[in-house]
Amino acid sequence: MCGIVGYCGHKNAAPILLEGLKKLEYRGYDSAGIATLCGGGFCLKRCKGRVDGLVPVSELAGKTGIGHTRWATHGAPTEENAHPHCYGRFAVVHNGIIENEALLKEECLLRGEHFASETDSEVIAHLLEEGFAGDLLGCVRKVCARLRGSYALAILCSAEPDKIIAVREKSPLIVGARRKECFLASDLPAIAGEGVEVYALADGEAACIGAGEVKFYGKTGAEVQKTPVIYDFEGENAEKGGYTHYMEKEIGEVPASIANSLIDFSSESRYSDFCKVLCQTYYIQIIACGTAYHSGIAAKYAMERLARIPVEVCIASEYRYRDPIISPHTLVFAVSQSGETADTLAAAQCARERGALVAAITNVPYSSLTRMADFVLFTHAGREIAVAATKSYAAQLALLFSVALFLSKERLPFSVLSDFVELSRHTLSRCFCIADWAPRMKEAKSVFFLGRGVDYCNALEGSLKLKEISYLPSEGYPAGELKHGTLALVDDRTPIVVLLTQRALAEKTMNAVHEVVSRGAEVFLVTSLPEYVGAEGIRSVCLLPECAEIFSPLLSVIPLQLLAYRVAVLRGYDPDKPRNLAKSVTVE
Ligand code: M6R
Repeated sequence: MCGIVGYCGHKNAAPILLEGLKKLEYRGYDSAGIATLCGGGFCLKRCKGRVDGLVPVSELAGKTGIGHTRWATHGAPTEENAHPHCYGRFAVVHNGIIENEALLKEECLLRGEHFASETDSEVIAHLLEEGFAGDLLGCVRKVCARLRGSYALAILCSAEPDKIIAVREKSPLIVGARRKECFLASDLPAIAGEGVEVYALADGEAACIGAGEVKFYGKTGAEVQKTPVIYDFEGENAEKGGYTHYMEKEIGEVPASIANSLIDFSSESRYSDFCKVLCQTYYIQIIACGTAYHSGIAAKYAMERLARIPVEVCIASEYRYRDPIISPHTLVFAVSQSGETADTLAAAQCARERGALVAAITNVPYSSLTRMADFVLFTHAGREIAVAATKSYAAQLALLFSVALFLSKERLPFSVLSDFVELSRHTLSRCFCIADWAPRMKEAKSVFFLGRGVDYCNALEGSLKLKEISYLPSEGYPAGELKHGTLALVDDRTPIVVLLTQRALAEKTMNAVHEVVSRGAEVFLVTSLPEYVGAEGIRSVCLLPECAEIFSPLLSVIPLQLLAYRVAVLRGYDPDKPRNLAKSVTVE
């Protein structure tokens, strides 16, 4: 992951780079740094931790510079390992992983060179210094040809001031240009603004960026013309709107996210080609990671129940390594909020190479996933800033359930799903009990989440949310599975959150409840079935509105998201920026 920025123009670069980095902090916040070209050399400032640690940047003169916010892969999150890495005439920022770093480094060490960091990135500056003989772009191309892995690079050379070279291979990079100024960034929010034309680099492409002038070069090294991408610049919706944290605000935006992401495929003609493919689909694979994977599990239950089409949900990082079988008429959904998750991109690519049609479900219109998919279905959750996915999960569910509804053999009316916009609002207003649950859970040694049938997806999701931001050990289980081993861990210090939204399965799930209650565990019940309020052994209930059961994950996730949020805050952690994580995982 990591975020990179660059600026070349008529203004002081450092403050602009700093602002850009703040908008990319969702990509990593282990350390940060800025280098500017000044006085024939570099001005460099780096810090451990968040971008704010770079403030003030007034001592960094220069109108050309690069910056970086890091999510550590190689080397601890220290100032020494922070980018930019400078060696000789070069300063480099890198997003990605150089897989043959050890071999390349060995060569430099044999030449007697010293390394100042433990990163895989510093070697790039060494190779550039060794190879540079006047042709900067040619030198960058030769060095890149030797790199294996993934990279987006921004490179300064003190011998060629007022210039940044940018290259991309499997890590996102975009260039912005307006009169007398050029920008570079891993993602749009860092550079979008009045009059900025934005260009997306493709794998193997390079850009030479000057003040107000940018030239693009293709894989062969020849100059290429690029067309600016169309984007809606709504400004950075970075205000917390009275909330203490983005996560809480974004949970509050779940109803709008559902409303905006539902699609009535049968009435929207712009999806007609996609619908034709859907109608000829006999097998569906859903590939995704983390929270997006859990939306796939919910979709499996809904699609199989309503459409009687077999659905396989695959963890994207495993997909390529199991030699996947793509039979005729298979449609693959690649689900990714960011559209940049390296594992999901690689799995989608693998599926395409094996002959599948790939439909991307993503929240980011200009992302890498949109460029490689056969069909693109956008979730409209709006920009999600907190690392923990909340409203984007609701949006993915809404969209996938829309597909299930379209495929439904019973041809259910769209209103069955659109009702969930209002129902989710009611759910938010019924979650007051979470303020009481969180203090009782905050010191737990571990927390289990149980669900049967479609509730299983939110057992997984509730657990992931809790461990991700509150650092409490937690597991999500199918309700019937606990007794096959894990029950041994349950005692009176083990809170159990139980999801219960399907009447036909409720008695079976209650068996699991009785099993844990008789081992002394306290049960926290999230249910849409009023008859279970006051059930024996259960004191804590969050009662959801009654709803079409198969789509109930749209509601039952809301108290779980709020629970994770409250526990994290009570434990003194920042829920928006959990340790060791980043919003967009662009490395494998
Ligand atoms: O951008 P993506 O949807 O592809 O991201 C996938 C996961 O990294 C992501 O959902 C992650 O699990 C969330 N941070 C969990 O809250």
